[in-house]
Amino acid sequence: MKPFYITTAIDYTNAPPHIGHAYEKVLADVMARFQRQNGREVYFLTGVDQHGQKVQKSAEKAGQTPQEFVDGVTQHFLALWEKLNVRYDGWAATTDDKHKRVVQAMLQKLHDCGQLYKKSYAGFYSVRQEQFLTDKERGPDGQFGEEWGEVVELQEENWYFRLSDHVEWLKTFIQTHPEFIFPEHRASAVLNALETSAGIDLCISRPKARLTWGIPLPFDENFVNFVWFDALTNYISFAGYMADECGNTGMPDFSRLWPSEAHVIGKDILVPAHAVYWPIMLHALGFTDEQIPRIIVHGWWNVKGSKMSKSTGNVIDPNVLADTFTPDGLRYYLMRDIATGYDADFSDERISMSYNKELAGGLGNLFNRSISMARKYREGVLTVGDYDDDENKALRQTVAEATPAYLDKMNGWGIHDGIAAAWKIVTHANAFVDSTKPFSLAKDPAQAARLDSVLYHLAEALTHVSVLLDPVMPTAMAAARAQIGWELPQGFTFGDLKWGLLPSGHQLGTPVPLFPRLEEKEKTAG
Ligand code: MSP
Repeated sequence: MKPFYITTAIDYTNAPPHIGHAYEKVLADVMARFQRQNGREVYFLTGVDQHGQKVQKSAEKAGQTPQEFVDGVTQHFLALWEKLNVRYDGWAATTDDKHKRVVQAMLQKLHDCGQLYKKSYAGFYSVRQEQFLTDKERGPDGQFGEEWGEVVELQEENWYFRLSDHVEWLKTFIQTHPEFIFPEHRASAVLNALETSAGIDLCISRPKARLTWGIPLPFDENFVNFVWFDALTNYISFAGYMADECGNTGMPDFSRLWPSEAHVIGKDILVPAHAVYWPIMLHALGFTDEQIPRIIVHGWWNVKGSKMSKSTGNVIDPNVLADTFTPDGLRYYLMRDIATGYDADFSDERISMSYNKELAGGLGNLFNRSISMARKYREGVLTVGDYDDDENKALRQTVAEATPAYLDKMNGWGIHDGIAAAWKIVTHANAFVDSTKPFSLAKDPAQAARLDSVLYHLAEALTHVSVLLDPVMPTAMAAARAQIGWELPQGFTFGDLKWGLLPSGHQLGTPVPLFPRLEEKEKTAG
């Protein structure tokens, strides 16, 4: 079976990462881990977008060369992924020579088949957004709004890609492939955009006089490639596309990996980049409809309803949150407090609540008290006996129902619903402790068999939870399994989650708080 090839957007390296970047990479990492645990071979690619005017300007400001500057900022991204346990297989940095060679080879290919042409264009240009503006961008007052910053009149020769040749193909493709974009409702925005941009081609260059920090066009030395042909191409260049022609060694086998089953991106870069430019680029290069990748569009994390931005000073640093709430605590919050595809509001109160109440108070406490009781009353040794009753049966039923519900949600990108499906076991098991009262049973020798069964049921429920929540909290769940004294067998998949994972006589490990409670003063991340 073909590997599950999953990618993320590559982040601009003009500033360090914030929680929006962290969310996307954790989301992709959770899906990659989920697929691996589901038995699929996975290739997970993420990286950084290092070229462009913004970087060139930021580097100038910092008194560094662009390469020095991006190398510095890239370290912040690498360190964060390490800290958050984002486990990728390929790292896409666009200043990598292997990538540059593929971008040039691809541009040459398009040039050779007449898909690129040069023309002079005069018009209004937004310095801030680095693009030419049309009347469409004017506000109701006829002016270009504040978002465009300084707008100047500019005449310039550039290279263009014949995007408009392929628009009809794209419309039909989108209409006949509802799975192309997830969530499906986002496709209508793409079709609307195609209606209003008919006949417009894509400018793909900047004169070297204005921008040096980019990949030179192989057929015209006065220009560098600009933005999307460089950035989007990472999905194929780092997957081994044209590796032989370009002399790129050590790359994955492109014919095995492609197409990607998930380009995980934020809603802001769906139209036009990922849903228009990208499929059209691939189509123009000769990719078939079956080779067009699937796009998974996530929403945005806002802060008190507003966009995070340096100028308003509301940018949330994921490093601070991971230090306060543990990396897994942050991963959990980012996955449970947003529905994939929709926006969410970051809040200190909610992340504190999710850590203290759900992780420490719910999950951590369940592990702690279950294993502690088993150690106290049975020296941590489990016994499977003949005793059974309705309470046991009900817990077994909850455990049995959790896995299929979880798989269904996770396969459909409903990570928060997948967590909720697994959490039903946590809630039920905690209620099971409260109602069966093992501490009372332990006082009555006549209840010994029942106590054995209660302790066994709890341990078995914990084992299931430690597998289901593993993609979201890999470190904590590995620690949980160490406490259970059970390791994931080689090749174990979710399909192997059946009642009876722990044999009679199994020795549990030592309980250590999985999510230590935070001191009051540490609760808020600054
Ligand atoms: N470099 C381009 C992407 C090129 S992909 C071939 C870019 N970079 S970015 O750094 O601005 O954004 C990277 C990703 O982070 C995008 O998918 C974007 O949607 C996502 N996010 C940026 N801010 C975000 C939030 N506040 N919330 C969630 N995700 C957000 O665009």
